[in-house]
Amino acid sequence: MAEMMPQSALVPDSDYIIIGGTGDLALRKIFPALFWRFLDGQVTSSFRLIAAARQEISKKDFADRLRPFCEEALYHADTKDTDFELFLKLVHLVKLDILSGEGADRLATLVHEKAKADRPCIFYLAVAPSLFGPSCQLLKSAGVVLPQSRLVVEKPLGHDYASAEAIGTELQAVFDEKQIYRIDHYLGKETVQNLMALRFANVIFESQWNNAAIDHVQITVAETVGVGQRASYYDDSGAIRDMVQNHILQLVCLVAMEPPSHFDADQVRDEKLRVLRALRTPDLGDVMRGQYQDYEAELGKSSNTETYVALKLAVNNWRWAGVPFYVRTGKKLATRASEIVITFKSKPHDIFANGRSSADQDDLPNRLIIRLQPAEGVKLQLISKEPGPGGMRLFPAELNLSFDDTFGGRLPDAYERLLMDTARGNQTLFMRHDEVLAAWAFIDPILRDTAERPPALYKAGTFGPEDNLSGQGPSFWIDPQSDFRSEQPDSHS
Ligand code: BG6
Repeated sequence: MAEMMPQSALVPDSDYIIIGGTGDLALRKIFPALFWRFLDGQVTSSFRLIAAARQEISKKDFADRLRPFCEEALYHADTKDTDFELFLKLVHLVKLDILSGEGADRLATLVHEKAKADRPCIFYLAVAPSLFGPSCQLLKSAGVVLPQSRLVVEKPLGHDYASAEAIGTELQAVFDEKQIYRIDHYLGKETVQNLMALRFANVIFESQWNNAAIDHVQITVAETVGVGQRASYYDDSGAIRDMVQNHILQLVCLVAMEPPSHFDADQVRDEKLRVLRALRTPDLGDVMRGQYQDYEAELGKSSNTETYVALKLAVNNWRWAGVPFYVRTGKKLATRASEIVITFKSKPHDIFANGRSSADQDDLPNRLIIRLQPAEGVKLQLISKEPGPGGMRLFPAELNLSFDDTFGGRLPDAYERLLMDTARGNQTLFMRHDEVLAAWAFIDPILRDTAERPPALYKAGTFGPEDNLSGQGPSFWIDPQSDFRSEQPDSHS
């Protein structure tokens, strides 16, 4: 087996029981992530991966369905022909009907065969949220909820505060909060974790990370894909629920949070919670909803659902008072890119101002650009002197940390890290119930205030509707560059 990971943190031998084990999430994300970690040696041959599903399926059919989602791993230079077969040996298939309970005995026998206090037993509910409650009850009545058991669930965790609270109650009726791992897959992304490293493993940013030095923050999560096959799910959700309530608010938290005193699950989550609770409900003019032009045709009915949203957020605390956080996300936009841009304040006095208009390129503010995906990296935009004759000629230049150039290799998928953390018992990158509720408490009034308002239409391949947040001109947004790595402004000639 390939030795790809130089310093693998220890992961105890575990049982993963994936309920909905032959569904889309399991085949597209969970099993491929486990396969990568099998290749890396973290998932050993002592693991068991139990796929529980309503339909009976043979091992061969399961393998045939899974293989296309593992292509990248299968063709990795270090992967051997036999690796996939060895991996499949860890897989046990169990027929389980959550609602009737049929198959629960067989699952219980399998679980108890290896049950040991130091062997994590992880139940991943890869099923619709309406089945979270019944699944937990079934696990309880089957007698498989043990002190070493853990539960993994994933969004949508409700469609508003009340339904999220109800889901929390269902989970906590059977599992202790310390056993519950709520995934927001953005937290598993390498570049999102790097936000914490950037802020809290370096000293140079902290003294500038406040309203004295920062003018505003922009977060863009742009996708080129439309809603496609997911139209009916998406139409009940929309961009605010699908992206802002979870992924984008998590990014806001990581940018805005105070330094925790340890990198520890509750300390990190306490600080994020404080940010969520400090968010002020935006005015209507600070919410811009859009819908791409073909959306209704794709859906086959008329709809007020937004496929784009931009918001001006205010974090009401001492550090951030007066610093707007502009966030936007949408489908069918001009490029696929997620980026956080921190724009610093203009210099208080310009000693080079002679003969130069303040709109010149060489008078741009400093910016820190954190590219989350793709072409992951961090850039710091500075103003430099252009070498050579011609006097003090200034132009914008960049310090550029490209992840690819610096670290090389592949960036693991978010699910790999998150799945290994469930086995390690590390909840730092998972959402606590109070965090989920605080996010909904912020989102609910926005949904209520905008539900009846038709979204503005925008053309596919643009950056959303032409109208903008109130008080902002069209050139206000800093659009992600399509090639993050090689771009250099050419205005210094
Ligand atoms: C999901 C949303 O949570 O995140 C999707 O439901 C969205 O609508 C996806 O496309 C984006 O994730 P990523 O990792 O591709 O940025």
